[in-house]
Amino acid sequence: MPETYKDNAFLILAAGKGTRMNNSLPKVLHKICGKEMISYVIELAENFSKEAIGVIVSPDAPETSDFVDKRYKNIDLIEQKERLGTGHAVKVSMDFLKKHKGNTICLYGDTPFVSKNSIEKMIKALNDSEKNAVIVLGFTPNNPAKYGRLKLDENEKLAEIVEYNDASDEERKIGLCNSGIVAINGKYTDELIEKIDNNNVKGEYYLTDIVKIANDKGLDCKVVFAEENEVMGINSQKERVEAENTGQTALRNKFLEQGVIIQAPETVFFSADTEIESDVEIEPYVTFHGKVKISKGSKIRSYSYLEDCEIGENNVIGPYARVRPGTTTEKDVKIGNFVEVKKSEIGEGSKINHLSYVGDSEIGKDVNIGAGTITCNYDGKEKHKTKVEDGVFIGSNSSLVAPVNIGKGAKIGAGTTILKDVEEGSVVINKKTQENL
Ligand code: UD1
Ligand code: CA
Repeated sequence: MPETYKDNAFLILAAGKGTRMNNSLPKVLHKICGKEMISYVIELAENFSKEAIGVIVSPDAPETSDFVDKRYKNIDLIEQKERLGTGHAVKVSMDFLKKHKGNTICLYGDTPFVSKNSIEKMIKALNDSEKNAVIVLGFTPNNPAKYGRLKLDENEKLAEIVEYNDASDEERKIGLCNSGIVAINGKYTDELIEKIDNNNVKGEYYLTDIVKIANDKGLDCKVVFAEENEVMGINSQKERVEAENTGQTALRNKFLEQGVIIQAPETVFFSADTEIESDVEIEPYVTFHGKVKISKGSKIRSYSYLEDCEIGENNVIGPYARVRPGTTTEKDVKIGNFVEVKKSEIGEGSKINHLSYVGDSEIGKDVNIGAGTITCNYDGKEKHKTKVEDGVFIGSNSSLVAPVNIGKGAKIGAGTTILKDVEEGSVVINKKTQENL
């Protein structure tokens, strides 16, 4: 971590009511591209700081605190008991900020796409002059809607931020808007925050007031510019969908640029944590969920759904495959149509081509699992493991009742129910007769 970032404290505002989301899930826990909004923001801050990240949470939304606590380490949770506005949120964080002497960077839990680059630019701008008190990340949206407006003075410095509700018709015509992201010079944080009051239309403490307060003290405020896509704030389900679309487009473009062959990108849904190597081909209508990694040369065929799994090199997955969490495959594996694989390791060259369920299993190399094979991994109480060693052939429509081990090179006849371990090299059938009446 470069020296200059060492002392910066990051404050993530995430206690807002999220009223406009119209549901019971805290706003910042809504997912964009498969990942909670607040995770984007915490992970952005983690690029700059390992021990000075504070998240402002509300006691009314314990789900948010629980989530942050479980998922991340070294984050200070700061309770804002009454939600009296963004300025109030920073006021209740003063004890946290005093522990970290450097600058304060305020991020919003509902603004997930802010880039590392913009934060770097803001910190650099702040450090340009001793007199710089506040740097605001501004943008010019297509529709300025209810964003706060940035008023510049004749020297292009930031004179004031006017909230939409308090703005005159003239001020509402200003196109330059506040993203909400601000960097405050550590030397002045105390005195600026202290002065914020709630003397405005909403009766809230506005963080944005610090700009006017700083100017009144003869200090300077400046704007760093960002693109709309980067700083869109999410307040409603409709805006969440817009952010999802923006995020998906960005992910699709990233993979296309990386050389992934995607036939119909608009039908493929990625997750923020999807990793795809080169020479991978993705057919239409594929969904990636959570942390999925696809290694080079693999082909993911239509209508497949992959979640928290790692696909090795030169695999063919699908069409219509469901690969569930905890699955890893080695080279040259085939998982075909209507096959579900859960928490299993599949060895090199093995094939599970049709209509099977493989769960809690370890499958060796060059194993052939016939159509309709089911690992019976659940006895109603507990899950059990199935181990299939190298070179095993399993005939169609077999049931493998776990826990069970099938030794190297064994052959299982079609329609067999395997109830006990099978020795290496043996051939197994269930005795059955056919009567043609
Ligand atoms: C805010 C800005 C506005 C800007 C917009 C950008 C203020 C007064 N206004 O408006 O200028 O254009 O963001 O998206 O800052 N929060 C708390 N505690 C509170 C209130 C809010 O933690 O008491 C958190 C929310 O969880 C949210 C963030 O602060 O993550 C922003 O709050 P929100 O109410 O969405 O502000 P906007 O009205 O969008
Ligand atoms: Ca907002």
